[in-house]
Amino acid sequence: MKIVVIGGSGLIGSKLVNKLSEQGHQAVAASPDSGVNTLTGQGLAEALRGASVVVDVSNSPSWEDSAVLNFFETSTRNLLTTEEAAGVGHHVALSVVGTDRLSESGYFRAKIAQEKLIQDSSIPYSIVHATQFFEFLKGLADISVVGGKVHLPHVLFQPMAAEDVASAVASVAVGPPVNGIVEIGGPEQFRVDDLVRRRLAALKDPREVIADPNALYSGAKISERTLVPGNNARLGSTRFETWLAQSAGKIPTAKSPAA
Ligand SMILES: NC(=O)c1ccc[n+]([C@@H]2O[C@H](COP(=O)([O-])OP(=O)(O)OC[C@H]3O[C@@H](n4cnc5c(N)ncnc54)[C@H](OP(=O)(O)O)[C@@H]3O)[C@@H](O)[C@H]2O)c1
Repeated sequence: MKIVVIGGSGLIGSKLVNKLSEQGHQAVAASPDSGVNTLTGQGLAEALRGASVVVDVSNSPSWEDSAVLNFFETSTRNLLTTEEAAGVGHHVALSVVGTDRLSESGYFRAKIAQEKLIQDSSIPYSIVHATQFFEFLKGLADISVVGGKVHLPHVLFQPMAAEDVASAVASVAVGPPVNGIVEIGGPEQFRVDDLVRRRLAALKDPREVIADPNALYSGAKISERTLVPGNNARLGSTRFETWLAQSAGKIPTAKSPAA
């Protein structure tokens, strides 16, 4: 199958392209780097010609409220219109567990808009809701700094390795469209502030992490179970300590907002 990976140069996208290629598929990485821009439409029709599946694992370069909303709305509209013309039979998108519970956040309002466009389109689809990536823990600290300290709520958290995210997305991409949401998560539960503290310690990052019941997550108030998936989630196998030992602080981190 020809499978186009939008955002194929990113953290998840690059792993996904490798996995699909290893399975014998024609996996095509598409992003501005390779001349495909979903915001402007540049190169999109050519990239999608003959594709059976499109997987969107792109992300907005800026997480400022209006920029991120414009990114996900415009790029998703362009993608779905071009997919319809090309006869693509399955649109897969990567989103976040709890997105519908996080509408106080500008970033998550943009993900909600992306999902609604997909659900309202005529293309059969699967939306994968993943928990936070281990690679994003430092980025989470970066967006949670108040007065030089990292403020995070002491709520449940079930993050996962980017490698396991890519495996799960690959499996959804080669399967039939579910026309709904598939949840994926990590094999263990933690508390947000505890795990970010452990990650920063491993990175020898001296910032103090404060357990703060009023701290926001990406601009939204959250409660005990906002970030954890339901009982039917597919769980990755990589445990945090194993990932930490493998990474030894050297593997790429998911980007924190440019805004
Ligand atoms: N971080 C988390 O913990 C988490 C958890 C669950 C779900 N997610 C979701 O996972 C997805 C992927 O995240 P990631 O960390 O893998 O992203 P990433 O590493 O930041 O990669 C973003 C990708 O988007 C591409 N891109 C940017 N602008 C584009 C445009 N105009 N047209 C086409 N492609 C464009 C980039 O291409 P260039 O390299 O060419 O610029 C890059 O390949 C996001 O949608 C995010 O919401 C994240």
